[in-house]
Amino acid sequence: MTTRSFIKYLLLSLAVAASGMAAWGIAMFSGIRQGKKSTRQFSRQIIDDLRPGQPVHVSEAGAWLIKRDDEVVAFDDRCTHLGCRQKWNSQESRFECPCHGSIFDIDGNVQRGPAVSPMPRLYLRYSEGNEVRLVDKPPAS
Ligand code: FES
Repeated sequence: MTTRSFIKYLLLSLAVAASGMAAWGIAMFSGIRQGKKSTRQFSRQIIDDLRPGQPVHVSEAGAWLIKRDDEVVAFDDRCTHLGCRQKWNSQESRFECPCHGSIFDIDGNVQRGPAVSPMPRLYLRYSEGNEVRLVDKPPAS
């Protein structure tokens, strides 16, 4: 193998590796975002079991639920930076993103970036059955 053909082979190998990594990155990112397409439905029993001020993650709905006084508040569980799932830190009473360190308070407000937007609020729609659905817009009054 000549030096010239070796360099060609090396560059081709690097190009293939870079393409593979780019494809993997795109697949991972789109997989993260797919979670937003969940049905956003869950059992009403979860609402009944909530304790005031203690967020509960409902993975099938892609959301966090928080009981406050007589109201239940819901937030999308995806970080507004790049879409990773938020974790609740009960000792610090805040949501923390494991990807790049954004922090949100219990009301979904950004406490530390890189995220700049608050956690998206979701609204509960009760059906006649045992299901609750989360929607993006508040109910019409
Ligand atoms: S995805 Fe949450 S901080 Fe980047």
